[in-house]
Amino acid sequence: MEATIVLDIVKHYPVLLKEIISVITPQHGGTFIDCTFGQGGYTKEILKHQNTKVIGLDRDIDSKDIGKKIEEKFPDRFSFKNLKFSKLNNLKLKNQNIKGILFDLGYSLNQIKNPEKGLSFNSHGDLNMMMGLNDFSAKEVINNLEGKEIEKILKYFGDENDAKFISKNIVRDRQIKKINTQELVKIIEKSKRKKNYKVHSATKTFQALRIFVNKEISELINGLINSAKILKKDGVLAVVTFHSLEDKIVKYFFKSLSENKSISRYEPKVHQKKILFKMPVKKPIVASHKEVKNNPPSRSAKLRYLIKQEDNYEIESDILDKFSHLIEIENLGLKL
Ligand SMILES: C[S@@+](CC[C@H](N)C(=O)[O-])C[C@H]1O[C@@H](n2cnc3c(N)ncnc32)[C@H](O)[C@@H]1O
Repeated sequence: MEATIVLDIVKHYPVLLKEIISVITPQHGGTFIDCTFGQGGYTKEILKHQNTKVIGLDRDIDSKDIGKKIEEKFPDRFSFKNLKFSKLNNLKLKNQNIKGILFDLGYSLNQIKNPEKGLSFNSHGDLNMMMGLNDFSAKEVINNLEGKEIEKILKYFGDENDAKFISKNIVRDRQIKKINTQELVKIIEKSKRKKNYKVHSATKTFQALRIFVNKEISELINGLINSAKILKKDGVLAVVTFHSLEDKIVKYFFKSLSENKSISRYEPKVHQKKILFKMPVKKPIVASHKEVKNNPPSRSAKLRYLIKQEDNYEIESDILDKFSHLIEIENLGLKL
């Protein structure tokens, strides 16, 4: 009941909306894939333009009702799929002319305010953190993985300096009883060596657990690889990130597709790969002062985009090798 009330009153601001639209140019028509449909902020804006079609994906089944309403309004121009974006290739789009693929990563305000999802350190109840189509919850991670494994997750996915102390205290306290959200917050508070008055002590641990539970690293990497393959000539791949780990992955992938790494003149010229994408701006596009004032979470948003230069399904990138250490950590979840 509480969840329904909260969902009704949360005001949603699609982040960097004007900037996304100027990059994907829906005014010229075309088919777009909104990989993180959420409440349909980007989708609705694209559909305002004639001759556009949108396929909206979201792993969270709660987006389905909003998707249904848009499907009723635009039966020939919109469809919603409850699908993870890593599975984009299941849509069998190889021969469709996809003009733009969009990602607005992370979670929505609706999701974080929904106590049943347990994404927030303010939630009272079980540790959940599942956005949808998951294999395990944060409760299983905290109560079952070994201390060293939890430490790795907090360190690499949350950049948490006190990962060692937090994980030790988790393992000690869970012997007495199962740990829920507020107990985890207390454990973190007592484990932190320095108090940061600007950011809640639990921020990094909660971010790390959310990334782990939702397999956000492999989701992102596979979503990017599949998008780069599917796009046709002049198609745009646009991604909005919210934290440095996501941005690092997107930045690396975009560079790897749009530049040939400078090869030392002392090394033999082995293989010059084909450059299939253009990155029109190297620096990310960020929110204006006005947007940050109206919607403070937009201060962390970074938009990067690529434009495909020719039709080609074969893309070359070493992104899976580059981030294999993170995927290895993600694979600790296979034990659960
Ligand atoms: C920041 S919100 C997007 C908001 C959206 N742009 C709007 O204007 O309404 C992110 C959404 O992406 C979804 N999401 C996150 N990871 C996903 C994944 N791997 N596959 C599909 N959807 C995902 C979340 O469930 C959430 O609804």
